[in-house]
Amino acid sequence: MSTRDEDETITRKSEELIEVEGNLDPDLEIPDSGNILIISKDQSYLTHGIHKFPAKFFPELPRYLIQKYSEVGQYVLDPMCGSGTVVLEAILNNRVGVGVDIDPIARLITKVKTTPIKSETLKIAVDALSKQIEAFRKLKDYTPAIPEFNYRDNWFKPFVLNELAIIEDSIKTLGVSNQFSEWPPLSDFFHVVMSSIIRDVSNADPHCTRTVLRKKVTKKISPGDTFERFIRRLEQQADEMRKFTEIIEALKFTDVILPIGSALETGLDDESIDLAVTSPPYINAVDYPRTHQLEMYWLGLLGDGPLSKVKRKYIGTETVYKDEYRDLKVSGLNTLDPVLKQIFKRDPRRAFITYKFFDDMKSQFQEMMRVLKPGSRYCVTIGNNLIRGVRVKSHEILVEIAESSVGFELEKQFFSKLIRHFIRIPRKERMQGEWVLVLRKPS
Ligand SMILES: C[S@@+](CC[C@H](N)C(=O)[O-])C[C@H]1O[C@@H](n2cnc3c(N)ncnc32)[C@H](O)[C@@H]1O
Repeated sequence: MSTRDEDETITRKSEELIEVEGNLDPDLEIPDSGNILIISKDQSYLTHGIHKFPAKFFPELPRYLIQKYSEVGQYVLDPMCGSGTVVLEAILNNRVGVGVDIDPIARLITKVKTTPIKSETLKIAVDALSKQIEAFRKLKDYTPAIPEFNYRDNWFKPFVLNELAIIEDSIKTLGVSNQFSEWPPLSDFFHVVMSSIIRDVSNADPHCTRTVLRKKVTKKISPGDTFERFIRRLEQQADEMRKFTEIIEALKFTDVILPIGSALETGLDDESIDLAVTSPPYINAVDYPRTHQLEMYWLGLLGDGPLSKVKRKYIGTETVYKDEYRDLKVSGLNTLDPVLKQIFKRDPRRAFITYKFFDDMKSQFQEMMRVLKPGSRYCVTIGNNLIRGVRVKSHEILVEIAESSVGFELEKQFFSKLIRHFIRIPRKERMQGEWVLVLRKPS
């Protein structure tokens, strides 16, 4: 298993640490190899908080990079956009937001987060949905259709299944009533809100990123809780959506482009992007399809094929075949090959997973080289990993790939630690966080 490198302790004197609470001034010059501690104030403001997502950006860092390295009206891309933090920040800053992700739930969340809905329409629709749910609840013998999926009855209590199915039926009923001309964005919004409570009302361990059942975890979920949670989240998020829509209506460049593709093949035109900002997955640290499997079942987003087939397309996948890892792979990179050798001695499979991650990232960088305009930047955040006890300095490996294999120039790199404003500030000499690489395509 890969873990983040907890030993990566950056020892600096306190004057070398830039500490910022909330917004970063775009005029701020973070020195090369410097350290910054960002105390995040608004990771859930507007539509940012509509759905949890593993390893989500706090908005302050992408906002700073967007304001610093792009201009109003320009195209800002996140090729692994996850829940869409960069895309949302791009449009809030009057840029055109472009987002790609292989994960269907990531794409749906990004779409909802960045699609305004007229306040009056939203109000009427939220009221109508609440009334419809109430009406179905009152029907004693109403039996909604509950979707079939693996281990369904282990994941959910019977009354939770029933309540989620009533919510789903209510959304559908509203859709067929033809009351709303802007139905698709409303339907997506309702589904994302529903999805946001699914993990909480399931029997899965709430403290584990992966979706797992643990005997020790006994959650207290009573009949009616699912409805209450849904309505509460719906009202909260409708309020945030109203505020978001108000801001967007006053801006000029609020287009969002969400092509269906992969970070390795975005389908975007050559030299069409002014800035790219991303945080790639960690090497085999988050199994995204498995993390969201319950939500995907309910939203009908899992295709018919096996999950393992879907998983192989993800950068950082741990779904690999025996034939692939029988022999030690050689990348030709000075920073990577000694590490692969060490891991291979302990675990050939992990060595191949690590090799594949960096090989995919090389193709990903080549794709960015193609779509970025000359002279524009690619900002990548990456943490280091410990794999089978071997330290993998991912940022150094990515810099070697970017410079020697792909042709980017490293403009600067800095170490960034982000914490929520209510968390006690850690001792400054022990910072764990991520490297931010600012790469530049030559002019
Ligand atoms: C660390 S998350 C990004 C989180 C994001 N920055 C946010 O704020 O929500 C990494 C993302 O990379 C995506 N990903 C993995 N492989 C991909 C691929 N081949 N193409 C596009 N996206 C991919 C995952 O689905 C995941 O959403």
